[in-house]
Amino acid sequence: MDLKLTEAQQKIQLQARAFACERVAPLAREMDELGTMPLSLIQELANTGFLGGPLPKEYGGGGWDAVSLALCYEELGRVDSSVRGTMTVHTSLVSQCILQWGNESQKREYLSQLARGEMIGCCCLTEPNAGSDAASMETTAARDGEDYVINGEKIWITNGGIAQLAMVFANADPSLKHKGICAFLVPTDTPGFRREKMPGKELGHRASDHAHIVFDNMRVPKSALLGAHGEGFKVAMSALDHGRLGVAAGALGVGQACLDACVEFAKTRRQFGQRIGNFEMIQSTLADMAADIDAARMLVYRAAWLKDQGVRATRETSIAKLFATEAAVRAANQAVLLHGGRGYSNEFPVERYYRDIKGLQIYEGTAHIQRIVIARELLGRE
Ligand code: CAA
Repeated sequence: MDLKLTEAQQKIQLQARAFACERVAPLAREMDELGTMPLSLIQELANTGFLGGPLPKEYGGGGWDAVSLALCYEELGRVDSSVRGTMTVHTSLVSQCILQWGNESQKREYLSQLARGEMIGCCCLTEPNAGSDAASMETTAARDGEDYVINGEKIWITNGGIAQLAMVFANADPSLKHKGICAFLVPTDTPGFRREKMPGKELGHRASDHAHIVFDNMRVPKSALLGAHGEGFKVAMSALDHGRLGVAAGALGVGQACLDACVEFAKTRRQFGQRIGNFEMIQSTLADMAADIDAARMLVYRAAWLKDQGVRATRETSIAKLFATEAAVRAANQAVLLHGGRGYSNEFPVERYYRDIKGLQIYEGTAHIQRIVIARELLGRE
């Protein structure tokens, strides 16, 4: 693995850093307080070429490799996890999945609209009784002539309230367990598609849109199938492979942001007549954080690099997601402590990093699920 970034990768990294600092950072605290993100910001992400970054040019994308996409998520994650999360669901879970599984007419119909931000995408997998055990979903898709009729409900759907296109998973034959699951591409104005905001106030990612979605006799044509009938669980798992790399890169950004904030604070905050960075306990914290973040960076870039070699990197992606999120949880925990009373209020962004990072440890497969994926890859199935 060549650790030197190419010129094209460096350019995307700098562009993403500039966008994050100039366009996102000034809004981050207010978005968090208001619990929403302006749609114009998502449009800006599209206009700068980020939303379609990894799509081929023929579908309106930028032809980025996986390392470039990871760099973009890292930079956005450094500033705001809500914005990074919105993009990861749209670009990695939905667009990259359509690119992988869609037929030519689906790719032509949706990908350039998704790249231009004319359509926002969401991924409808999680249900009240099917979170970690995704295969146990209760949403059904009954065959009716040339159509499917979908009934059920989904929760915690990021972008669900603002999306124009939903990737929906439903079981057409529950007796076949995961082999009965189908994936569908469904415009959200389809009759029977109902959505509302998730109840309660989230711990973090407060500017992201999280929806509860109900399918009430929602009729979709056979042509809406993404992948073949019964292939939906594989579609979902591969979508998560794309998404988890994005979450890992975003977590790396959160960890780096915590370290940056702590280094700055340790240099400027004075107690006992000197800067607090002179105290060994503070130095030890900073050193552990830096080692953690360097290790996370290597794992994230390795998973992205393997993907660029065309190798299935499920295990390496889960290792990256597990380690990068846990490292960032540790970093945020220490960052709040190191900032003392200031870390306990939203006067400093470490308070938001501390709340946001718990989400990354949970969504797109909890840390427990990543351990299961890694262990199965090690042991095989009996
Ligand atoms: N790519 C392709 N196929 C895969 C795969 C992958 N990464 N992982 C598994 N499969 C295939 C297997 O090969 C197997 O195929 P066969 O039937 O042909 O043998 C099939 O899928 C079933 O695999 P498992 O037996 O391993 O399935 P399982 O039921 O034991 O589940 C699991 C495994 C890893 C626990 C899975 O359920 C999982 O990842 N759970 C977590 C779900 C999750 O991350 N949810 C978050 C959703 S995020 C969301 O909703 C979006 C949002 O807005 C944030």
